[in-house]
Amino acid sequence: MSRAPVESSAPGKVILFGEHAVVYGEPAIAVPVSEVEARATVEPAPSASGLTLVAADLDQRFTLPEAPPRDPLALAARLTLDRLSAPVPDATIVVRSSIPIASGLGSGAAVSTALVRALAEFTGCPLSPAQVSELVFEVEKIHHGTPSGIDNTVIAYEQPVYFVRTEASGPHLISVGAPFNLVIADTGLPSPTKRLVSRVRGGWKRDRGRYEALFEEIGEVAREAYRRIEAGDVEALGPLMDKNHALLIQLGVSSSTLDGLVDTAREEGALGAKLSGAGQGGNMLALVNAEDAENVVEALKEAGAAHVIRTTVA
Ligand code: PMV
Repeated sequence: MSRAPVESSAPGKVILFGEHAVVYGEPAIAVPVSEVEARATVEPAPSASGLTLVAADLDQRFTLPEAPPRDPLALAARLTLDRLSAPVPDATIVVRSSIPIASGLGSGAAVSTALVRALAEFTGCPLSPAQVSELVFEVEKIHHGTPSGIDNTVIAYEQPVYFVRTEASGPHLISVGAPFNLVIADTGLPSPTKRLVSRVRGGWKRDRGRYEALFEEIGEVAREAYRRIEAGDVEALGPLMDKNHALLIQLGVSSSTLDGLVDTAREEGALGAKLSGAGQGGNMLALVNAEDAENVVEALKEAGAAHVIRTTVA
């Protein structure tokens, strides 16, 4: 077993197309966002001290046996050690993240991914992206209840993915035909994924016909977007984002704050804009030409966005 300290990181993520409908088997597209990240360091500890977990941003510190029930860090550590058939090492794992929590940027999956990678490497048995993704999916079930699996997939693979939950063959890694620029703005309001997923489920149970038609339309947008991204037809993605946003409004997961930021981005020349993730709060994203990016960033800040990130998908 390795005794050298180990450090791993994992990026944030943003869903470009297909949120919510992805839970019902339609495709969705997500990309990693490397401008924000989670980091985990594992350092050797004195003999017989066991494994200590430190969530630096939350000021939490506990050993594995003391961990609160359903603690995601402890679960990620246990699942990793079980998977590797490795004994509990004498070590301290410190986890930090610059990804805003509960905002749709994948903070939970990124923290778990960084931890799983660091611990696996510390024990001398690095895991493949598919193996990391599978373990993180188990942890995601604590946060989300019934996650589609898109967060753990895009973050563990660190590549743009076209994801269909029912496909056992694994994700399609997208080959991006031409780079494009995104501006991602945080409403500063929480986006309670579990609650919104269950609200959509409630609507679907009451009116299956209407909801399934909306899911199908969203799926069609995601399929078209996948073809356009691979073909490098960036301009076509703007109207597809606008259409996806309109469909998410009909699903009842947008809010006046999200709609306001989407309108602001469009008024400043964005090619298209939509909410991203579960909705209500959390983030929106806009597709921009490089020369308009700064204006869009400034306008979103003025309109009240709590954080704004610029990223390029390449
Ligand atoms: O808000 P996020 O990034 O956790 O995304 C939720 C995306 C949903 O499609 C609404 C749920 C899911 O598990 O895919």
